[in-house]
Amino acid sequence: MGYRDHIEIRGAVLNDAAAIADLSVHLGYPASIVQSEDRLKAILGSDEHAVIVACLLDGTVVGWAHVFVAFRVQANRFAELGGFVVSELYRCKGIGTSLFAAAEKWVAEKGIKKLRVRSRMSRVGAKAFYEKLGFSETKEQRVFDKTVGSEL
Ligand SMILES: CC(C)(COP(=O)(O)OP(=O)(O)OC[C@H]1O[C@@H](n2cnc3c(N)ncnc32)[C@H](O)[C@@H]1OP(=O)(O)O)[C@@H](O)C(=O)NCCC(=O)NCCS
Repeated sequence: MGYRDHIEIRGAVLNDAAAIADLSVHLGYPASIVQSEDRLKAILGSDEHAVIVACLLDGTVVGWAHVFVAFRVQANRFAELGGFVVSELYRCKGIGTSLFAAAEKWVAEKGIKKLRVRSRMSRVGAKAFYEKLGFSETKEQRVFDKTVGSEL
């Protein structure tokens, strides 16, 4: 059964920080409530970011999506999904699709024509999900991270 009539899609508020932190574990990024609150506070203060949540009718948050405007010197601005997760208990019910529709609307309203998502190769389900939503794979990349401030 689809859940589309049984969920509410809305912009996140600071009060959602605990639920967002809980769900981040399902994404593989554990976070404390304080960390989640601090990040959310910074993100919600910017017009160039949106965090959207999916809630059951009793208010339980079962999914969230973060979308932001990405700027490059060498290319037109585009939008990118920074994180996207639906609770393991509520997958394959159309909730991800509804969250995505809200994120895409936010992008369209900004007049931005390109939306990108980076997804680990191991996220096989996510690949199928994004392809179903109309994304096409454009490149493979290496990702390099460095701890800044440490001695070389
Ligand atoms: C990817 C994710 C957000 C999808 O959310 P969801 O609510 O389950 O997605 P939907 O029910 O709206 O699925 C829409 C379509 O995507 C495809 N799809 C979704 N999950 C899939 C999976 N695991 N395997 C294959 N296809 C999948 C299906 O075609 C589905 O349509 P159908 O149900 O009519 O067949 C969710 O599985 C998730 O949170 N995964 C873990 C975190 C993650 O990978 N996030 C993306 C990070 S880049």
